[in-house]
Amino acid sequence: MEVIQSKEELQELIAAWRDEDEHVALVPTMGNLHQGHGRLVEIAREHAERVVVSVYVNPTQFGEGEDFEEYPRTLERDTRRLKHVGADVLFVPDDDTVYPFGHDCATVVSVPGLTENFCGAVRPGHFDGVTTVVARLFAIVQPEVAVFGQKDYQQQLVIRYMTEDLSLPIRIITAATVREDDGLAMSSRNAYLTEEERLVAPKLHQVLEQIGARLQSGDRDFAVMEQEGADELGAAGFKLDYLAIRRAENLTQPDRDCDDLVVLAAGKLGKARLIDNVVVTV
Ligand code: PAJ
Repeated sequence: MEVIQSKEELQELIAAWRDEDEHVALVPTMGNLHQGHGRLVEIAREHAERVVVSVYVNPTQFGEGEDFEEYPRTLERDTRRLKHVGADVLFVPDDDTVYPFGHDCATVVSVPGLTENFCGAVRPGHFDGVTTVVARLFAIVQPEVAVFGQKDYQQQLVIRYMTEDLSLPIRIITAATVREDDGLAMSSRNAYLTEEERLVAPKLHQVLEQIGARLQSGDRDFAVMEQEGADELGAAGFKLDYLAIRRAENLTQPDRDCDDLVVLAAGKLGKARLIDNVVVTV
């Protein structure tokens, strides 16, 4: 596996692959890789002969007072993990490569509508940062395929929308959430949990699963289920940002006979902001 910092070097290598008619899959990440990211690489591998993983802690998607400075940067360990899962290239661009004119003068890609609620409401500007950096990575790598995790449900929807709206010739694949044995979704931010909080953290997934099961069994009292779930998580110590049952397709309010639902939640447990969801197809 090659570790490449420069855009030119990466593009030269990709051009050589293209000469051999090889397809390229991109897995964008912010590093501190865990098995969830590893799974994305495996899935990428199923769809293309070549896999590029980018590691870039994107400053424009972090808000005031968020954890940009302390976000774990573990490049050596990430490199070992990626060699192990079989990526072809680890792309580690610097700020000048991603934002050649600087952040303040950067062209911004912004998806309205879908980004108004949930994580978009709690983290103003966050999704503009995500779409802006993903569009740049897409432009640099020009992959046929890009893989994102279902854990960040709203993020993958926003990226799908952007890709379709801009007619980018990239197939977006969403990979199921990889979990710890007790159900907690793997996340770089789990490292912020204390030992005690770590024991409480799986409750988030449990509550989402309970609501999922009620939806499956025909319960359609969405507001009641949302309130009960929020109360249960509040009592367990979560400072919830949202817990909502929505249409899986576009996050709008579902009606009683909607078949594809998603139960989304995010909130803080101590210092860690946790996010999770379950998709329910009735
Ligand atoms: P990051 O949090 O590093 O996540 C990179 C990718 O891994 C995302 O698509 C995310 O949904 C996926 N992922 C994280 N945890 C996962 C898990 N437990 N199971 C499956 N997939 C998981 O998300 C970002 O970075 C950034 O916003 C990025 C898209 C790279 C733009 O900067």
